[in-house]
Amino acid sequence: RSRPGGVARTCEGTGAILEPGVVAAGNNGAILRAAEAAGLAVRGLHLVRLDVSRLRAFYAEHLEKPFYPELEAFMLEGPVVLAVLEGEDAIARWRALLGTTDPAKAAPESLRRLYGEDLTRNGVHGSDGPASATRELGLMAELL
Ligand code: TYD
Ligand code: MG
Repeated sequence: RSRPGGVARTCEGTGAILEPGVVAAGNNGAILRAAEAAGLAVRGLHLVRLDVSRLRAFYAEHLEKPFYPELEAFMLEGPVVLAVLEGEDAIARWRALLGTTDPAKAAPESLRRLYGEDLTRNGVHGSDGPASATRELGLMAELL
């Protein structure tokens, strides 16, 4: 699709995970509301307890990192909400709404600042680019 001004934009999907801390605190609705208010449509939604093999496939790039054991324990401590969000520039726009990785450093109104607890329990995940969105949506499709 093209827009006045000439920059071509495509409707795309991105993967979101509302992490166990957010689910336990009852903040699912606030986060999905923020996505919809920003013009991202919820195209898939599923509350699920991840199993360790699916989680390791999802976080393949992080398995060898020093923080991974703590991240794994957190992501398995309770159910998560998997969501597919769709819209123009959905990947970059969802990342912008999340804010940077560490909630303490994230912008004041960002979702990680509002709903994250610390660097590991940072509230919400978003695919970081087209390749990871494709890969993550494929993994999520098995569960959605
Ligand atoms: P990363 O891909 O670096 O961040 P982002 O989610 O912003 O793309 O890391 C993936 C997740 O791993 C991150 O959301 C939270 C967790 N994490 C830690 O627990 N400790 C760390 O030091 C880092 C960098 C990440
Ligand atoms: Mg990342």
